[in-house]
Amino acid sequence: MVLLVVLGLFLHGCNGLRMVDLSYDLHSGAITWPFNPRFNMSVMYSGFWKTHIWLENNRLDLAEHTGTHVDAPNHVAAGVGPWNNHQIPIERLGGPGVIIDVKDKAEANNDYRVTIDDLKAWEERNGRIPYGAVVLMNSGWQKYYPDYSAVFKTDNISDDSTYHFPSWHEDAINWLVTNRVVYCVGGDTPSTDYGQSTTFPVHLILSKENIIGIESAAYLERLPESGSTIFVPVLKIRDGSGGPARMFATLPDDDGDETNKAGTLLMSPTLQFVLLLLVRVLYF
Ligand SMILES: *[C@@H]1O[C@H](CO)[C@@H](O)[C@H](O)[C@H]1NC(C)=O
Repeated sequence: MVLLVVLGLFLHGCNGLRMVDLSYDLHSGAITWPFNPRFNMSVMYSGFWKTHIWLENNRLDLAEHTGTHVDAPNHVAAGVGPWNNHQIPIERLGGPGVIIDVKDKAEANNDYRVTIDDLKAWEERNGRIPYGAVVLMNSGWQKYYPDYSAVFKTDNISDDSTYHFPSWHEDAINWLVTNRVVYCVGGDTPSTDYGQSTTFPVHLILSKENIIGIESAAYLERLPESGSTIFVPVLKIRDGSGGPARMFATLPDDDGDETNKAGTLLMSPTLQFVLLLLVRVLYF
């Protein structure tokens, strides 16, 4: 009976939220900084174990900054102060979603950097950037992922002076940290600094301010520019400088779309209703 009540409450609690995946698959082709080793998964065991149980068990070898991932504040700032990966408080790994759409500008100029004006234009349409926001640039770069020469716009992936992809301008980041409170900043390209950067000013500001960097975020097109809640559950690596994250967002489920609804992962709304009714009639 307790189990049924718990299940009923769980299903009830799941109604009204839609979940949106914001992560790429991790595999040997996942984008990482080109000088890093590529993701590798090797089979430790695949077969029958103790004669009757099927067992699969793999081993991972990867750079922390691979695929959809987080830059911890210590990534580019030495010494005490900025948090290591495991020191990031859980409350800082999520918040109201702010999507800055610069697809057209990035298409026209692969070296585009998000400006203060882009942020102000967002605020004119949606109001003030909420406290603790997760602010992400959508440059449309997903259409190139995971083709290295297309993502980095280069003929020579060994030469980082040839990279071209959009990201953030340091003036916009300075405006954000001075005038608003944001917890995470990043986008859908491989770096929070644009491809042609040699001094990485955005990384440095984010580190100094203990703001979480996000790189290679996926499927931002699935989110409205305002109104989502974004979660950035990065692996908790002790003393790490970042790590892969199974990023996702939740949206209020007011569009009538039955797909991706948390509750319906288990069963249809009709079935949920009948089950809830049964639980209530029998036990309350
Ligand atoms: C690519 O860049 C590397 C590093 O700068 C250089 O050594 C190499 O010669 C370049 N390859 C080509 C084909 O230009």
